[in-house]
Amino acid sequence: MPESKPSAEAWGSRIGLILAMAGNAVGLGNFLRFPGQAAANGGGSFMIAYFISFLLLGLPLMWIEWGIGRRGGRFRKGHIPGMFAALWKHPAAKYLGVIGLVIPFVVLCYYTVLMSWTLAYTWFSLAGNYWGLTTQAEMAGFLTSYQNISDASAHEFWVPFLFFFLSIGPTIYVLSRGISSGIEKLAKIGMPILFVFAIILMVRVLTLGPGENGVSPLQGLEFIYKPDLSGLGSAKVWLAAAGQIFFTLSVGMGTLQTYASYLSTKDDIALSGVATAITNETAEVVLGGSIAIPAAVAFFGVSGAMAVAQSGSFNLGFVAMPIVFQEMPFGGRIFGAMWFGLLYFAGITSSVAMATPIVAFFEEEFGIDRRKTSWTIGGIAVVFGVLTMLLFESGFLWEWDYWAGTFGLAVMAVIEVILYMWVFKPENAWRSMHLGADIRLPSLYKFIMTYVTPVFLLIILGWWAVTQAWPTLTLTDCPEGVVAGALCSQGSVIPEGMAVYVHLSRLLLVAFIAFFLVMIRIAWKKNGYDDYADFIEVGPDGPFRAGSVTRPNPNAPHVVHAHDYVSPLLPEHGDDLPERP
Ligand code: TRP
Repeated sequence: MPESKPSAEAWGSRIGLILAMAGNAVGLGNFLRFPGQAAANGGGSFMIAYFISFLLLGLPLMWIEWGIGRRGGRFRKGHIPGMFAALWKHPAAKYLGVIGLVIPFVVLCYYTVLMSWTLAYTWFSLAGNYWGLTTQAEMAGFLTSYQNISDASAHEFWVPFLFFFLSIGPTIYVLSRGISSGIEKLAKIGMPILFVFAIILMVRVLTLGPGENGVSPLQGLEFIYKPDLSGLGSAKVWLAAAGQIFFTLSVGMGTLQTYASYLSTKDDIALSGVATAITNETAEVVLGGSIAIPAAVAFFGVSGAMAVAQSGSFNLGFVAMPIVFQEMPFGGRIFGAMWFGLLYFAGITSSVAMATPIVAFFEEEFGIDRRKTSWTIGGIAVVFGVLTMLLFESGFLWEWDYWAGTFGLAVMAVIEVILYMWVFKPENAWRSMHLGADIRLPSLYKFIMTYVTPVFLLIILGWWAVTQAWPTLTLTDCPEGVVAGALCSQGSVIPEGMAVYVHLSRLLLVAFIAFFLVMIRIAWKKNGYDDYADFIEVGPDGPFRAGSVTRPNPNAPHVVHAHDYVSPLLPEHGDDLPERP
């Protein structure tokens, strides 16, 4: 008897889809990473590089990923290996797609740890745990004590673990509920709360009086928005800006594609893609830019705020902001809880997205249901999340953030642009993006996607490899004689004797790649996919087009390979397949 397909899923409504996509994109990156990067890279110069990167990398990749994702959905593939195989009929395509399973998995493991800090600080603000610590050194000490498990001077040692479980638990629960009754519902609740909190905080910060230095918060706005050409010759500024565009829009990860795979060719992706990008940029540049930087500038002056940002990407949010809240004449605890609560909501609507490609992979290829997959992946993420926490001091988390969460995204983007725009061909890609579209994309973008985006990406990647990746890989990026690695970019160095854990973190990344490669191989074998044809599922009664109601039956008496089965009824492109049931 053929097993039945895992339940088909879809988005409930257009607004729900856009909120969920925006929830995916709007995250800790918008409110913590963006101000940190902007302040550490010279404000006005960074913003110019940022805006150009948005137009030439972010926006085109957004449409490309929605296009690849929805097309994958036509073949019932919600994961990157399947989507790549559907674009490029070559045995290597599915293996290239391994990057789209490893990156979201690794990022899930550490992003939930970062999220747990925001939840803890929400509580600390309400309870007033850090009240009285009004200097940067004291607040930084409080943060270090929280992050480094071996230094639990400010709290009991189990507190960080408790908040970690309280963060990852709801993530997995929402994930297990599925697309429309889990993720979409969360976005419909979480996104409005997030925006309301952010607007309240923005108004509060911009009406702060001048701080001790007599600097007004509005000077913080001037620092970011006043165009400044002086830094544009610096590779560092460009790399930081492009890296931020990737991170904040969630491109290069595999999750936007999974979300888009639940759409049909009757749905618009052109307008929805740009709506998502604009929502994210509003949350980032308008709201994210008007909270942490102006507040820090008012209290510490422009150079003081830059110094805080350069001392670590979380220090504006976790060190400077708590000092500002304590100085507020009234309601400091509430505003503090709102700030960290906002970060938590931003985080959870992103963290649920990270596991979706992996859930889709096990659901679609192995027929394991969503609930089981979600809790299993959640359990594994807990193990590695706890490891990340235990080894925090060695820079273990930053190492993963660097290779999977930064470098990996650009690698993935290069591969997908080449597959979609070159292997699948610009005309097909363009047509595919316009099925069901409510707007026509400016045709200039066809040119940008085909030539400019890949060339820009390759330059960025090459630059990155030479100036940053190699020194980081060889632990020679910090001042001589000190063991460094990715931790160095966080403003500190790895303590003596802990370098071994940096190697462990890298070894684990290699192990994850190997594991997922094997799983891909097993999946393709088991399901009898033909590398040289579109996906055809082989049922007991012969071949079915993927997307039909029957799951592949590995015990089918006669396995028919796709290229033996040529039917005039089979259209050339997956886009023309019948709707996903
Ligand atoms: N965009 C998210 C943020 O700004 C982070 C992120 C990057 C992400 N890639 C992702 C979130 C993939 C979900 C899925 O914080």
